[in-house]
Amino acid sequence: MTKTLHDALTSRLVPVAVIDDAVHAAPLVDALKRGGLASIEITLRTSAALEAISIAASEADFCVGAGTVLTVEQVDAAVEAGAGFIVAPGFDSKVVRHCLDKGVEVIPGVCTPSEVQAAMGLGLKLIKFFPAEAMGGPKLLKALGSVYREVRFMPTGGISSANLNDYLKLGNVAACGGSWMVKKDLMAAGDWETITRLTREAVACAEGSGA
Ligand code: 3PG
Repeated sequence: MTKTLHDALTSRLVPVAVIDDAVHAAPLVDALKRGGLASIEITLRTSAALEAISIAASEADFCVGAGTVLTVEQVDAAVEAGAGFIVAPGFDSKVVRHCLDKGVEVIPGVCTPSEVQAAMGLGLKLIKFFPAEAMGGPKLLKALGSVYREVRFMPTGGISSANLNDYLKLGNVAACGGSWMVKKDLMAAGDWETITRLTREAVACAEGSGA
């Protein structure tokens, strides 16, 4: 059975992968599953991305989303390929409305109060906070949390095993996104064991975070 984004977020981790070769998609999903995760965001930054989404979407008990989605045309292509959710680095009301009209879960990126309110105005309750570390990290999320109590964030950008817990311990963080578990050089080297190990470590951190 395909997992939903809601299922995937119970782990509070969304690995973000830039896949250069679609042949990496199946072993990558397998490595993540062995590490204890059931989701991935595949960014539309490579020519292999849509094929990789389609391969990952055919895996059982797994949820694949498309990231770096900048246009309504990319939303359509990603959904056609099998993406179950859409992630964007910024907030574009055209893209968000298009996803809502299609009934597709969308997580646009924000980094200011005005953008949070623009997303709230379209009824969103889960928003990406990007680029998290560069924009103020946990300190800014705490400040936003004291004002916007109904919104939960998916911080992404600069998160690693070194600072993961600083984010996960915040009550307004639904999940952390990032590429640290699924680095391109590990995929290129076929080092699926390291991807599984990094995933297991992140899962253990999330389970112990107690937020
Ligand atoms: C994204 O696509 O959301 C970010 O590029 C991921 O950021 P990271 O590589 O710093 O984890």
